[in-house]
Amino acid sequence: MKDKYVIAIDGPAASGKSTTAKQLAKMLHYVYIDTGAMYRACGLQTLKQNISLDDLDSLAEMLQDINIRIEYAAAGNRIFLDGIDVSERIREADITRLASEIAIIGIVRDKMVDLQRKMGENGGVIMDGRDIGTVVFPEADFKFFMVADVKTRSLRRWQEAKDKGENLDLAAVEAELCWRDKNDSTRSHSPLRQAKDAISIDTSAMSIAEQVAYIYQVIQEGKKNV
Ligand code: DC
Repeated sequence: MKDKYVIAIDGPAASGKSTTAKQLAKMLHYVYIDTGAMYRACGLQTLKQNISLDDLDSLAEMLQDINIRIEYAAAGNRIFLDGIDVSERIREADITRLASEIAIIGIVRDKMVDLQRKMGENGGVIMDGRDIGTVVFPEADFKFFMVADVKTRSLRRWQEAKDKGENLDLAAVEAELCWRDKNDSTRSHSPLRQAKDAISIDTSAMSIAEQVAYIYQVIQEGKKNV
């Protein structure tokens, strides 16, 4: 097996992408790149600099100087914005929504795609997001598209929060996921959609171990399409 593949994993929120990608990256000794974290960091930057999303000039200026750094670590990547560790902050609800809102904007996407291509140009990466197989790396060696029904995804997000001591309202979690699905898949710039040559995986009834094992096997066998 080559050690320099580019592996793209796309799909809606809470479809299992990031947990699966993290574990696979460990097994393959690849770098895991969470592109959603980059849009989240961008959103946080607009909040810090008090930039309105319709002020394209200020956004362009902000993007020119933005300093997003990902530190790759076995215990989980850390994301730094202007040298400050924002890994936890970018997971909060306001930034989750802002990330989806800012991801609609063409100049933001152009900048992020540029950074992502540089991060992955030498291969040996697993990148997850919404447009990796369609736009960032249309020539990726392997493309997966993970989906799961919205009830399952909501329950996963609700459980994740509960494990962190947060008691969320399940119906509100579901409503937020539906809003994000719609926002991410109906935008005109690189909407969330499955690449024609991506392998689709419905994770609704799969454990993480099963998802990891399945993708690992596909890669081991070098199958591009199944
Ligand atoms: O994967 P995530 O939930 O952390 O992503 C946050 C938002 O960023 C998501 O709602 C849409 C956007 N995003 C995107 O447009 N393109 C990507 N490659 C990754 C994320």
